[in-house]
Order: sequence, then C-alpha cells, then structure tokens
Amino acid sequence: MAPYIDDKAVVNGTADDVSSGVQNLKLKNAEPVQVDKGPSYPYYYPYFDINEKFPPTELFEHTDPGLRADPSKPNLLANATTRVLNPYIGTEVLGVQVSQLSKEGLDELALLAAERKLVVFRDQDFKDLSPERQIAIAEHFGPIQRHPTSGNVKSFPEFHVVYRDGQNDRRLPRTQNGLESLTQVGWHSDVSYEKQPPGTTFFWILDQPKLGGDTQFASQVEAYKRFSPAFKKRLEGLTAVHSAVPQANYSRERGGPVRREPVETEHPLVRVHPVTGEKALYVNKGFTKYIVGYKQEESDNLLNFLFDHIAKGTDFHIRANYEPGTLVIWDNRLTVHSATPDFDASQERRHAVRLTPQAEVPVAAEV
Ligand code: SIN
Repeated sequence: MAPYIDDKAVVNGTADDVSSGVQNLKLKNAEPVQVDKGPSYPYYYPYFDINEKFPPTELFEHTDPGLRADPSKPNLLANATTRVLNPYIGTEVLGVQVSQLSKEGLDELALLAAERKLVVFRDQDFKDLSPERQIAIAEHFGPIQRHPTSGNVKSFPEFHVVYRDGQNDRRLPRTQNGLESLTQVGWHSDVSYEKQPPGTTFFWILDQPKLGGDTQFASQVEAYKRFSPAFKKRLEGLTAVHSAVPQANYSRERGGPVRREPVETEHPLVRVHPVTGEKALYVNKGFTKYIVGYKQEESDNLLNFLFDHIAKGTDFHIRANYEPGTLVIWDNRLTVHSATPDFDASQERRHAVRLTPQAEVPVAAEV
C-alpha cells in the first residue's frame, strides 16, 4: 500500500494505521478540533510508479454481454426498486448488491446500462469486496483498460483512482495551452483514444464531500437525435482522430508516469451500439482532436459546434450524486461525463475507483 503521508493523519498515529472518517478531539479549554484520519479506504490510495510500463493495447474479439441478456432482466431486477432519473439518461436501482450478481445478472446489467446509459446503485457493501472480485465483475464486460497516466492501485493496475484532498489537489483550471480556464468542467468519454474504447464502466465512490463532487453525464444518443435529417446526413461517413498525446504530455511535464506510448485513433463521428442499435454522437472535448480530411478551420468549427451542443444540452444531462455505498455504472459508448470539482479539497476528500472494460471497435452508423 502506498503510504499516506499527511501531517493531520499523523496526529492520530502512523501513516499506516489511518482508517476512516474525521474524529472530534476535545482539547482542554478549546473547541472540538476536527482531525482528519485519512481516506476511508487507504488501500486504494493512488499509486504512481513512474517506471511502470505497459505493452501496447492489443485488439481482441468483443461480444457484448448485453446481447445474451433476457430483456425482462429477472436476474438483475426481480427484487429491485428502480427509479428513472431523467427521460433520456439515468436509472437508480435499490435492493441489488452488484457483487452478488450471477453471470446472467451481469449480462442484464450490460443491457440496462446500454438502455439507460447510466445506472446508479445505492447501498453497495464495499467493505467486503476485494479488488480481485471487483476486477472479476468488470472483466465480465471486457478486458480492463490499464490507464497510462493516472494513479492506480499497487499490484492492481486495472484500477483508475480518482483522489482529491488538501494534500492532493493537483487539478489545475488550465487549458492545453497552459492558459487559465474559467471552469474545471471537462466533458469526455473515458480513454476514447483506444482502438477499442470502453463500454460498461464501473465507478465506486469511497469518500465523498458532504456537498458537491457529483459527476455530470450527457446522453450522446439524445445529442445525436436532436439533429435535423440533413445535418445527420452531413455527419455520416466522417471520422475524427482521438489522441492520447496531450494526456501523456501533461503527465510527463509533472513528473508523472507514461506507462504506454500514447496512441492516436480514428473513430466514426456517429457510432452504433452493438446491443440496442442506437446511434450516438462519438466526439468529446477531452480527446477528439480533428476531423479527418477537413481543413483546420473546418474541423475546429464543426467540432466546437458539436462540443457546445453537448455541453449546452442540459435537457439531456443528469448529475449523479454520491452517498456512501454508491456505485455508478455508465456506458462510455453512449455518454460523455465530467467531474464537478465544486468542493473545497482543503477541507474534504473525494476518493473513487474506476474499472474501465474495453468494448468493440466502434462501428459507424448510417443515417
Ligand atoms: C471519470 O472521469 O471517469 C471520473 C468522474 C468523476 O471523477 O466524477
């Protein structure tokens, strides 16, 4: 386990015995002092080994588990209560422990995530869920992408760790040109530069601020549906390059790891989902760089229009909020998302782990 070096944690013991939560210490003649005991799950503290290297990602045959699913979802939802959160995106599920699902239940989960784009499970029992079991669940959906630059978990490079607190608040509101930015909102689809970008994706929240720290999601299916038939026709056949290079450079500049040489991959602008057949816009501001065959200004204008459309379409957005025990699952083929870094990291901690199974090579949609 990576050591958690935090002078506030050391007040209550060594860096290794930090457990959970914030404790009130009653000092003589003084108000109670809040002492931060560190992350609730220190095992998942982000681990960086700048010498860690991964081979290039290999192509594989993908059969989506959702294709095997019983559409009535008896293995997933027989004892569940569900609540639709938004007409276009998001369903909340109560009464299901994802860790207990059978293979058939996981197949049905793939289908539900494809249909609803985002599924929010509450009250998950994370304490008894080993990293191996989490990985086994996620591998049902595809080989797990190993992130080239972000914090992972020592001995478990499958995890992508999201972590902010007073000592780890490296997120800078800056653009790729190094200029200050008005906002830290960054819409993206995870690692879309991969040749086989991710599908059903798992995000477990471990520590969350009392208020804020939500994730915003947009439906790329609805974003596409809003276009006129003529504009849809205009997009047909276009491809764009998604690049891992800026992410690798950003990490290198800060002394972080680049575990795999960054790739640049051409994907269709509109893709079709292998299970539902729905068409989704497949560009995102985080990784999509240019449209193949267009001149620079043509590409910039069209991409900026599409990025604006996605960001402004608050009538096909949703915010996933977190409670202890929340697991959020989204289909990266059909959505974009952004963290909402709106809490004071000097006072509160946000800690989560993501497992990101890869899916098929994107298939271009025809109008
Ligand atoms: C992610 O981008 O996968 C993480 C989202 C979040 O931190 O809310």
